[in-house]
Amino acid sequence: MGPTGTGRSKTLTETDEELHPLRRILPDSSDNQDGVLHIGGCSLPELAAVYGTPLYVYDEETLRAQARRVSAAFASSSARVSFAAKACATVAVLRVFREEGLGLDTVSAGEIEAGLRAGFAPAHMHLHGNAKSDEDLARALELDLGAIVVDNLDELRRLESMSLGRSTRARVILRLALSVGAKTHAYLLTSGADTKFGLGHDELQTALSRLGKSSTLRLIGLHAHPGSQISDARVYTAALASLLETVELVKTHGLGVEEAGIGGGWAVPYVPNDPALAPEDLAASLRGLLPNRIRLAVEPGRALVARAGVAVYRVVSVKQRPAGRLVAVDGGMGDNPRPVFYGAGYSAIPVNDPAAAAKGSDRLVGRYCEEGDVLAEGVHLPVVPGDLIAVPTAGAYQLSMASAYNLVPQPAVVLVSRGRARLVTRRASHGELLSRELDGL
Ligand SMILES: Cc1ncc(COP(=O)(O)O)c(C=O)c1O
Repeated sequence: MGPTGTGRSKTLTETDEELHPLRRILPDSSDNQDGVLHIGGCSLPELAAVYGTPLYVYDEETLRAQARRVSAAFASSSARVSFAAKACATVAVLRVFREEGLGLDTVSAGEIEAGLRAGFAPAHMHLHGNAKSDEDLARALELDLGAIVVDNLDELRRLESMSLGRSTRARVILRLALSVGAKTHAYLLTSGADTKFGLGHDELQTALSRLGKSSTLRLIGLHAHPGSQISDARVYTAALASLLETVELVKTHGLGVEEAGIGGGWAVPYVPNDPALAPEDLAASLRGLLPNRIRLAVEPGRALVARAGVAVYRVVSVKQRPAGRLVAVDGGMGDNPRPVFYGAGYSAIPVNDPAAAAKGSDRLVGRYCEEGDVLAEGVHLPVVPGDLIAVPTAGAYQLSMASAYNLVPQPAVVLVSRGRARLVTRRASHGELLSRELDGL
């Protein structure tokens, strides 16, 4: 049930050449119907009127299309494709990916729980994390997850003692700290001698000799996640080559490797001209590199989900500043901390005049008490208070990183498809935010 469009169902590109560059950053079903932005056949102003703002709108068609696209790209290499839940742990989104046959990469007992709620079989989930809690490990062992990706020697020792007495050996993948020359923001670099993730070379030797003697753990694979927003496929071919070299070392310990995992991190465009790494191109550059007996594993997050989501905000105030207009909306760093964390750039589109979206001198700022709470810079926003603004490519690492800073409740989420909208996450309430406070009751 929910707001519907006017019935015309042409896509943005078909209806409006002016909007063509936005196609790279908007959901597949986006449409400019009579000057109003629609997604999944639903009018954004109608959705905002029913569910309030800020509102996150996910397009089911784009989620499914991306999942199918990635699966098809890697089908000939029989790769294991998992969605990295950290990018978006919204259960309804996870359910779509489960229905599309993907596995799930989790990093906590909480994400495992979300995966179970979405119907994932434990065998199709694996657990990552550089500082997993005992609770995380215990839950993974209890459910007999597909694999636990061991990050460090302390974890390996803990896991060995926690798995004593089990009837089956827990499957383990070792995460390596490889240097593969990934060029990205320092906070998005997750591989290399100096990063916090994975085992260095000497640590790997120790891990292998422990696993060679272990009666409770079984090594099944090696993993390296180079980083995120990587647009150069050579980073992944280098990572895979290093993993395959390491297989020789593994064999010297009497162990074998069934799987080589190169993580996710494929670049997606946040603004129309950003570089991207197409799954087909990545798959093509990896083809033929793996020996038959070793399976490839990939675990993209943002590439599957970023473009499917759009954040919708309402304009609260507009100020004139020497450098341009300053447009303040009712959300910001609480629902999207990425600009503050990584200096991430975004586009912004006036919902009731999408064709006006362009580069300009306006700044879109949030409602939070930080000067750095900027959602988009260098945009053109001919809007007045009360108007709506859509921020595209909002599907990844926004809701999953959202906070309740300033005690502003986290937004609601709707899933749209073929003119129907379904509320899948309700807006948080003030009572809920204060519910853990024991004083003043
Ligand atoms: C181990 C691992 N796998 C997959 C991902 C997903 O990355 P992305 O969402 O950039 O594809 C990450 C992101 O940090 C990661 O650390």
